[in-house]
Amino acid sequence: MLPADFAAPVRAIDAGKANIEKSGSGDLPVRRYWPAVMAKGGKLIDPLASLAPYYRWVQTSNYVASPPNPTFLPNYGYVVLAGPGGLVESTELALGFLLLGPETHYPSHQHPAVEIYVVAAGTAEWRKGDDPWRVEPVGSVIRHETMMPHATRTLAEPLLAIYIWQGDLKTNARIIAS
Ligand SMILES: [Fe+2]
Repeated sequence: MLPADFAAPVRAIDAGKANIEKSGSGDLPVRRYWPAVMAKGGKLIDPLASLAPYYRWVQTSNYVASPPNPTFLPNYGYVVLAGPGGLVESTELALGFLLLGPETHYPSHQHPAVEIYVVAAGTAEWRKGDDPWRVEPVGSVIRHETMMPHATRTLAEPLLAIYIWQGDLKTNARIIAS
């Protein structure tokens, strides 16, 4: 399912090295959609359930400092499963999942890392640059090359999408349009 340049580093993650000594922090408002997403089930969703107590829910710092719209932050958060600061430390890639609430607009943003998204729950609309919005159902694999502007807007259901970054893992995404 994953392109070969992403599949190999994902396979190399040693899940046995997950740091589950510390409990995660679960205080982001978007977590209110977690039970509904888990209830949908599915081959990408089910494996996420067992580690949930250890998740650390985070938001990109520059989004917190300057939210793109008033409803964004209560409906947005992500968890790093592997990568810098993740459950499994890695400098090779960053792998985690994004959770967006329903009716949420994640405006166009960009980052130097090359990115793959795999839609795990929730059909949403996705856009690259000025292309038309596309409806991407569960199982879709969406690729964003370096600095390619991209945006996501959810419909009536929350979205959970697995992301994988390679390349520059240190430079945050930046919003470039409202
Ligand atoms: Fe991205």
